[in-house]
Amino acid sequence: MMLKLESSEEQDYSKLKNLIKKNLEFNCEQYKDSHFRRRIDVRMRATGSKNFGEYIRYLTTHKEEFSQLMDTLTVNVTNFFRNSETYEVVEKEVLPAIIKSKSTGLRSIRIWSAGCSIGVEAYSIAILLHKILGNNFSRYNIQIIGTDIDKDILKRAEEAVYSELEMKEVPTDIRNKYFTYDGENYHLKNEIKKVAKFRRNDLISGEKLTGFDAIFCRNVTIYFEKHLQEKLYMDFYDSLNKGGFFVMGKTETLIGPSKDLFKPFNPRERIYQK
Ligand SMILES: C[S@@+](CC[C@H](N)C(=O)[O-])C[C@H]1O[C@@H](n2cnc3c(N)ncnc32)[C@H](O)[C@@H]1O
Repeated sequence: MMLKLESSEEQDYSKLKNLIKKNLEFNCEQYKDSHFRRRIDVRMRATGSKNFGEYIRYLTTHKEEFSQLMDTLTVNVTNFFRNSETYEVVEKEVLPAIIKSKSTGLRSIRIWSAGCSIGVEAYSIAILLHKILGNNFSRYNIQIIGTDIDKDILKRAEEAVYSELEMKEVPTDIRNKYFTYDGENYHLKNEIKKVAKFRRNDLISGEKLTGFDAIFCRNVTIYFEKHLQEKLYMDFYDSLNKGGFFVMGKTETLIGPSKDLFKPFNPRERIYQK
């Protein structure tokens, strides 16, 4: 009897995954099952659903729940200069090395923030480039591309309006110089905003982007199955220009064949070089 109950619950779990795939274009199989179940459990509790079957019924009768679920599944939490010690190395070593490599020819700098959430990683990099380049900033063709699977979150990235919490690691001089404050939120100035472009892209099944001087993919792959992490790190290796940098999250580890290809640049800060 017990076994039968469990298997019908598992069947509902598969049904739920299919429903999510169809409605949110979110491929559940790519994520660690433990992560996925925990996130669904958050929404089941919030909607008072006692099992997967009840949650499916809730989802099909309350369409707005899909967007809540997407929010919960994607874990969009982030802030400017997250892990500021990593950004110190980015400012002092990584970006200067990229700029130096552009001293001749086209002064084009291309950086990818993969799994960019509300855009603060892309904009943190743009602010540092401005800080380093000063008046020369506009003389470079700077393209920072932010991609994410969650299209709603990209609207926030494009707006570039941020709360105190999202600004918590932003030093005062940067707040004053690059943002205007409306009494509640911080608005990023246009000079920085305009160098970043955002678009939806699924890192696993989406279009492969190429030609980058640096790729930041932080706090995204921790939720992926191991074999997908390995594949993605190889994809990033291929997407980088020679000498390009790969910056991972502080709790993430480089695994698979790319580990032998990338040169450690600053392993403590999870920075690698092609
Ligand atoms: C925790 S945020 C990380 C934001 C930022 N990189 C940081 O470190 O603060 C993780 C982001 O990865 C995105 N994400 C999850 N799976 C993805 C996928 N398959 N393709 C693209 N983005 C994905 C989520 O939507 C979410 O916005």
